[in-house]
Amino acid sequence: MGASYRPGNIRGLVDVCILNQLEELNKTGNSWLTDEHIKGLIFDTLAAGMTEILKTLRLFLLLMCHHPEVQTRLHVEVETIIGSERFPCPEDLKWMPYTQAVMLEIWRYGSQTPLAIPHLCRKDVELDGYLIEAGSVIFPNLYAVHHDEVTWGDPWEFRPERFLNESGEPLPSDHTLMQNIIPFSVGKRACPGQEFARSRIFVTMASLMQRVRVIPPENSNLPPADPRLYSKAYPMTEPQFECRFLPREDSII
Ligand code: HEM
Repeated sequence: MGASYRPGNIRGLVDVCILNQLEELNKTGNSWLTDEHIKGLIFDTLAAGMTEILKTLRLFLLLMCHHPEVQTRLHVEVETIIGSERFPCPEDLKWMPYTQAVMLEIWRYGSQTPLAIPHLCRKDVELDGYLIEAGSVIFPNLYAVHHDEVTWGDPWEFRPERFLNESGEPLPSDHTLMQNIIPFSVGKRACPGQEFARSRIFVTMASLMQRVRVIPPENSNLPPADPRLYSKAYPMTEPQFECRFLPREDSII
């Protein structure tokens, strides 16, 4: 593996793995990070990346069909911050609080990775008076965190403004709602692709809002976006649907 690998020229995840593999081989003559492990890791990363980004974008389109008022506000923010003469870039997002709120609300509402991934508890742990025994497998229930009525009040409403204060600015990171929005999970096994996902999803959403209006299909029914109605099979899947893109006349890109 790694015919094109050059020491000192690290191009990405595969090179980082090869570097670690070679360091361990030089030190001990053996490495747990075999070529098979590296291939598995790359496969997992590609599969996770493609499916998760697709899930957010699909739900975004469905929600835009159901909530034209949200789409209008997104378009106004895109027009104000980016305009219609250049492509959006990831850095624009920090000036776009409403778009940030919509992204958080899509991840909360849909909770597209409802049980994260299973974690093995290696030693006995006491948490809030409960004993979690070594060897237990834990499924973090992000779906339940994101739909807890005590925290959210109206968890089954799609309402991006919940993440903004009265002046339309993002809530501070220590606010209860910000502490409870954890689409990428938390801790050292949290999603390693989150920054990549955030920037790609933002650029795609902003580019669409810049150029088109997303509207329901003409000759078929639009399924509801309510996550309580998604398939309960694991992994939970949102409904398939058709929608239409109407070009915006004022977009010149
Ligand atoms: C909106 C998009 C995404 C969401 C909501 C998401 C969510 C998650 C969640 C909840 C986990 C489990 C973390 C845990 O159990 O502690 C996870 C793991 C993972 N994600 Fe993502 N993810 C997204 C995009 C991506 C992308 C774009 C990539 C790769 C480019 C990626 C790669 C991975 C990998 C490799 C893991 C397993 C990490 C490990 O085993 O330690 N994800 N993701």
